[in-house]
Amino acid sequence: MSTTQKSQTPSKARPVTAPEIQARKNGQKITCMTAYDYSSGMIVDQAGMDVVLVGDSLAMVILGHEDTLSVTMDEMIHHTRATSRGVKHALLVGDMPFMSYTTVDKAVDNAGRFISEGRAKAVKLEGGVSVAPQIKAIVDAGIPVMGHVGLTPQHVARFGGFKAQGKSAEAARALVEDAQAVEEAGAFAVVLEAIPVEVAELITKAVNIPTIGIGAGNVTDGQILVYHDVLGLFDRFTPKFVRQYAELGKTSTEALSTYCTNVQQGHFPGDKNTIYMSDDQVGQIRKIKIKKKK
Ligand code: KIV
Repeated sequence: MSTTQKSQTPSKARPVTAPEIQARKNGQKITCMTAYDYSSGMIVDQAGMDVVLVGDSLAMVILGHEDTLSVTMDEMIHHTRATSRGVKHALLVGDMPFMSYTTVDKAVDNAGRFISEGRAKAVKLEGGVSVAPQIKAIVDAGIPVMGHVGLTPQHVARFGGFKAQGKSAEAARALVEDAQAVEEAGAFAVVLEAIPVEVAELITKAVNIPTIGIGAGNVTDGQILVYHDVLGLFDRFTPKFVRQYAELGKTSTEALSTYCTNVQQGHFPGDKNTIYMSDDQVGQIRKIKIKKKK
């Protein structure tokens, strides 16, 4: 499909479920996008996306932090709940923030908050073998889980920056084991971030759940990108794997600067933006004598 073609008209059918996404392994590609509030959730949903992720990337693109480590559970719940009001069709996934799933009990409690307070229908968390017990416990509690392996931004300090992972055969083997552990623990899908396409292909063949790529080439069962990257709203850091489909940041700045000039030059508001009284009321108001206060 060319970049100028539109996706299918979004279905008005009932909401997408996690089992339906899981069943799309090797089927129609799964489309996913992040969103962080009511209006972006509505825009992404109406574009026909299968999955909307309230990503912890909101720490960077919404809250202005340097990385994803500072966003709190309360902030994630606040944004997930707002997004849920705009998403009617896509599967809404809440992203568990850094340190919110360090133990099994903590993981289940916090995943529960995403569902009951945030109104998400599933959660995502980062890691493989090391978080398999948490994934299993959350799934056992009845909450669908999406895994995330490869470049897991919550481990940025250990990686020494936002660097592609799995570039050696040994590292690739470890990533396959991570993805398999995520599957075995009961996840319905797994995100593969910033890994060589060869490794993404290996993992996609090695697991029975859909793989959702971001910087993992065109071999995965679906794709996910960050809303602000796709729409050109965030230029502080643009990974190579992003394709920008619009320049809304630039367009917005230009529009707002025109508004500034219009106000300064007295061209806004115009007639169309002004509320007028009826003629008879204007007649009445002119009869009112008003004394200026001293
Ligand atoms: O937080 C996020 O936006 C993510 C996606 C990039 C997968 O985790």
